[in-house]
Amino acid sequence: MAKSVKPKEATKEIKTIGVLSSGGDAPGMNAAIRGVVRTAIASGLKVKGIRRGYTGLLESDFVDMDAKSVSDIIQKGGTILYTARCPEFYTQEGQDKGAYICKKHGIDGIVVIGGDGSFKGARALAERGVNAIGVPGTIDLDIACTEYTIGFDTAVNTAMEAIDKVRDTSTSHERCSIIEVMGRHAGYIALWCGIANGAEDVLITERYDHDEQRIINSIIEKRKIGKKHYIIVNAEGVGDSEGMAKRIEAATGMETRATIIGHIQRGGSPTCKDRVYASAMGSLAVDLLAQGYSNRVVAYKNGEFTHFDIEEALNMKKDISEFLFDMQKKLSR
Ligand code: ADP
Ligand code: F6P
Repeated sequence: MAKSVKPKEATKEIKTIGVLSSGGDAPGMNAAIRGVVRTAIASGLKVKGIRRGYTGLLESDFVDMDAKSVSDIIQKGGTILYTARCPEFYTQEGQDKGAYICKKHGIDGIVVIGGDGSFKGARALAERGVNAIGVPGTIDLDIACTEYTIGFDTAVNTAMEAIDKVRDTSTSHERCSIIEVMGRHAGYIALWCGIANGAEDVLITERYDHDEQRIINSIIEKRKIGKKHYIIVNAEGVGDSEGMAKRIEAATGMETRATIIGHIQRGGSPTCKDRVYASAMGSLAVDLLAQGYSNRVVAYKNGEFTHFDIEEALNMKKDISEFLFDMQKKLSR
């Protein structure tokens, strides 16, 4: 188990840490920030909040954080530190500047809350002598080393509730509805909603075969046996929901509407799971820094919180569960 790996770069005693959120925001990021700040204080470390991800790092946009600065945020969506995508950080110069700024401000260690892209930035800082730990924060669940990412649980519940509502109106009008959910290239939100909402079809990039005729045949068949609606949960990566709706309506004669749920999936008060797991991951990240670890990603795997080397984590692959995928099909008859 990766947890037993000894610190590779237990180079120095950490006194001050930085924390930033990067990439798309996710409900639970605030709980993670709170976990970082309060654990650091309990461990005798100082904390600097870095606003707007790597953009804020390069602008030295820091705020000193104490226990009170993370009061009343565990229940809030978004991130109090703001977030950004920072093109400059892809460059060697940007990464050198980031490490230089950390050292100039006495930041010996940094917690980066974000996805795989953000972890590459963390790895660049670790390579330049700033001890860095990644915390998986993305609604997409698309980080291979972990079975949980901050925000997925809230996002998938938000999407599920929205799809329930669309289903009501689809049934009343005896329509087909194509509901597009987020996930960038990953189909986890779509598959989970497909199961939780009892959808007739789920389209995900991981298994999509572009055979619209199969869907059309299925709609015609299901109408014959008396189904009053036909719900298709479509993953963002497959896309083209509007075009698909037009083609399906033309081929089946069944009125069809496309609904793109969009950014409401990224907001809102985090679920209990997101609050608890995000708190634990933020806290573990600081424990790791305090123990001299660097270049690690916190993860949840096989029922426990653990951590992996960033390089190892970035090279891992994960796929959707074949069992869940097949089961969805069986249950949607
Ligand atoms: P996520 O962290 O959710 O995967 P992005 O891929 O957009 O989101 O990455 C967030 C930010 O992390 C980028 O805007 C950039 O500043 C930084 N980043 C991404 N990839 C790299 C990389 N290869 N090297 C250094 N920094 C990176
Ligand atoms: O990574 C989270 C996510 O919400 C993806 O599901 C989506 O593809 C992307 O971010 C949208 O990004 P933006 O908010 O920049 O439009």
